[in-house]
Amino acid sequence: MTVKTLSTARKKEKAVVVTVERIGREAWSLEDRVKELENLTSSCGVDIVASEVCRRKVLTSNLLIGKGKAEELAMMVEEEGADVVIFSNDLSPSQQKNLEEVLKVKIIDRTQLILDIFAHRATSKEGKVQVELAQLSYLLPRLSRMWLHLSRQRGTSGGIGMRGPGEQQLEVDRRRVRERIGKLKRTLDDITRQRELRRTQREKYSMLTAALVGYTNSGKSTLFNALTSSRVRARDQLFSTLDPTIRKMVLPNKQTVLISDTVGFLHDLPHHLIESFKATLEEVVGADILFHVMDISDEKIDLKKSAVFEVLEDLGVKDKPVVTILNKADKLPSDLEKTRISRKFDDPLVISALTGQGVDEVTDRIVQLTQKDMEDIELLVPHKYFDLVKAIRENGTIRSEKYTNKGLFITARVPRSVKYAIFKRLKQKR
Ligand code: GTP
Repeated sequence: MTVKTLSTARKKEKAVVVTVERIGREAWSLEDRVKELENLTSSCGVDIVASEVCRRKVLTSNLLIGKGKAEELAMMVEEEGADVVIFSNDLSPSQQKNLEEVLKVKIIDRTQLILDIFAHRATSKEGKVQVELAQLSYLLPRLSRMWLHLSRQRGTSGGIGMRGPGEQQLEVDRRRVRERIGKLKRTLDDITRQRELRRTQREKYSMLTAALVGYTNSGKSTLFNALTSSRVRARDQLFSTLDPTIRKMVLPNKQTVLISDTVGFLHDLPHHLIESFKATLEEVVGADILFHVMDISDEKIDLKKSAVFEVLEDLGVKDKPVVTILNKADKLPSDLEKTRISRKFDDPLVISALTGQGVDEVTDRIVQLTQKDMEDIELLVPHKYFDLVKAIRENGTIRSEKYTNKGLFITARVPRSVKYAIFKRLKQKR
């Protein structure tokens, strides 16, 4: 059960979107923030009937934007026949409640908007559980507001005769939500354990893992498909990949690596949202190398780069080796422009995942990285441990093999971690 707060069924909802700017306090330009809010809203399939900007020196704790502006918005909502007002910021439960009282329609904030997109996109069990958990945790302190909303919808004011049963019902609902949160947490723990188990098995012979990270819509899934010959959905929409996808990539030297495609990042992602999606992002945490995919044709490339690094920092992985990939090079008008932009980055690969230009260089870079800590080994693999031969073949290069009556004598070149894993296993089993 994922909650889609903005209904896209039958009739499209009409929204007034409000970008709130704290004068002198925003890193992104007002224009970009407006555009982003509109994009996020459209991603939910909602019609924008008006886009308002509200510039303030201070944001108030009761109504965020001040009474005068709130009343002005209320008039606009009525004139436009809007069903919902969507704010660019996060709102506290009381701000949301107060705004709802003045504007008399549903109020949605940034977290709720992102969660709504996630709810539409989640397809795997893990994705759905994470979204529902994040939504319910968000909802719990706001339940009384929901009740206000419902009582208004029923045409009552929550006055006489309503308070007792209403409050009792609210308590019952709170308890039910808490119980459901507990159940979802247990389910998520199980899924995480299974994922860890799969990862441990993968790591037994330590296949190199690379995760594609980047701002939403930068082209990660398109590159993932190009590298792994997969058909992961790549669309011109925000967060098309919510669930992590992992595929084996066979390198030209027959070595295999694991590539994972992950959820796109966004600036100012609320910390609790990152926390909620940690299970999905664990592929990033567990990866040996990160490929940071950026859209070279995007004017906001620098700001988006910083936004991605902020999330990586939040995940505690900013010190991992990062390969910079400047994607969508086909969109630039000239080579001069490519050079001008790529100069700002450290050893970037300039590619077009869509046309395939430069994708081979990404593969070459992966090969180089896998060769970095390779070591030569010589060993006799007893017959009963023949699965080790497969592990050596997948992770390294076999130089020679000779059958003996005690097993297979191999000389090979493998990553150091694989070498240790193999010797450890042979030692244990002896
Ligand atoms: P999220 O799942 O939102 O994080 O997106 P993503 O980073 O996985 O991007 P995706 O691969 O879905 O691509 C987003 C849009 O950019 C799609 O319409 C792609 O066709 C387009 N795209 C991706 N790579 C290129 C490229 O090299 N050139 C051009 N012109 N478009 C590209």
